[in-house]
Amino acid sequence: MEDLDAIVAEALDVFGAAADDAALDQCKARYLGKSGRLTEILKTLGKLDPEQRREVGGRINAAKERIESALTARRDTLAQSVLEARLREESIDVTLPGRARTRGSIHPISRTWQRVEEIFASIGFDVADGPEIETDWHNFTALNQPENHPARSMHDTFYVEGGLLLRTHTSPMQVRYARMHKPPIKVIAPGRTYRIDSDATHSPMFHQVEGLWIGENISFADLKGVYTDFLHRFFETDRLQVRFRPSFFPFTEPSAEIDMMFDSGPLKGRWLEISGSGQVHPRVIRNFGLDPERYVGFAFGSGLERLTMLRYGVGDLRLFFEGDLRFLEQFA
Ligand code: DAH
Repeated sequence: MEDLDAIVAEALDVFGAAADDAALDQCKARYLGKSGRLTEILKTLGKLDPEQRREVGGRINAAKERIESALTARRDTLAQSVLEARLREESIDVTLPGRARTRGSIHPISRTWQRVEEIFASIGFDVADGPEIETDWHNFTALNQPENHPARSMHDTFYVEGGLLLRTHTSPMQVRYARMHKPPIKVIAPGRTYRIDSDATHSPMFHQVEGLWIGENISFADLKGVYTDFLHRFFETDRLQVRFRPSFFPFTEPSAEIDMMFDSGPLKGRWLEISGSGQVHPRVIRNFGLDPERYVGFAFGSGLERLTMLRYGVGDLRLFFEGDLRFLEQFA
C-alpha cells in the first residue's frame, strides 16, 4: 500500500499551488474523486482481513480528513485574497477632485435644420430626403438649365464617375418628389449640397433647404405669405422686413431673391440676402410630369448656414465645420 503520509503531503503541496477555485476542484478530484488516489486505496480494503481492515480503514479516514481540511483551508485563503484584491481595486480616493461632466450639444446647423423642419411641418409641408450624388438630368436638365449653362462647368461642380455629380443644390429634389406624388405638392427638402467654392462665406459642402408648393392656384402671394411667416418664426421676431427683389433662375419665372432686414439688433438696417425663390417655370412643371396649364406654384431654396449665421451672429461660415469645441460649446 502507498504511504498515506506521502499522499497527504503531496496533496497539501498541490492544493497550495492551485491559483483559484477551478484549479482547486481539479486537484481535489485527483485525491478524493471517483478514481482519486485515496479512493483507489479504499477499494483495496475488501481484500484485507477484518482486523487489518479496521486498522487500515482508520488510517485512510484520518488521511482523508487531513486532505479535506487542507482543501477547506486553501479555499478560504483563495476567497480571502479575491476579496482583498477587489477591495484594493474598487477603493475610492475620496480626497481626489471630482471629474467635471461634459455635455454634448446639437450642432448649430442641425439645430437650424430641425427648426426649419418643425416650422414648415406645422403648416402642412412634408419633409423629404434625397440622394447627394445626383444625375445630371435631375440636377440641371430637368430644372431648365441647358447644356451650356455656366453652373455646369467643371470649375463649379464636383463630377463623379458614371456621369453623376454631387448635387449643387437641393432643387433636384423638387423633380424627384413631384414625380412621385400627386398634387397638391407641398414639401421641403433639407440636405447637403456641394460646390467648388471655399472662403469665409462659402464651403465646398454646405446645406440648403428646398421648398415647393404646387397646386391649381398657388401664387406668388402665397410664397410671400409663407416665407415671411417662416422668417418671423425662425428669428422669433416680427420686427424684421422682407422684400422680394427681381432676379433670375432658370427654373423659376418670375424669380426673386428674398432679402430681409432686422429692425433691431447688431444687423439692424442692412438688407441681407436670404433665399432664392420664384414661381416654378412651366417647363419644370412639365418635367414633374404635370400639365403647366393646370398646375402652378412656387419654390425656394435657402442656405441653412446663412440662416444660422444670421440667427446667432456668426461671421465666418468655416467655424461650423472645424469642430472646435470652444465654438460649438456656445450652442450647448
Ligand atoms: N437652387 C438655387 C441655388 O442653389 C436656389 C433656388 C432659387 C432654389 C430659386 C429655388 C428657387 O427653388 O426657386 O442657387
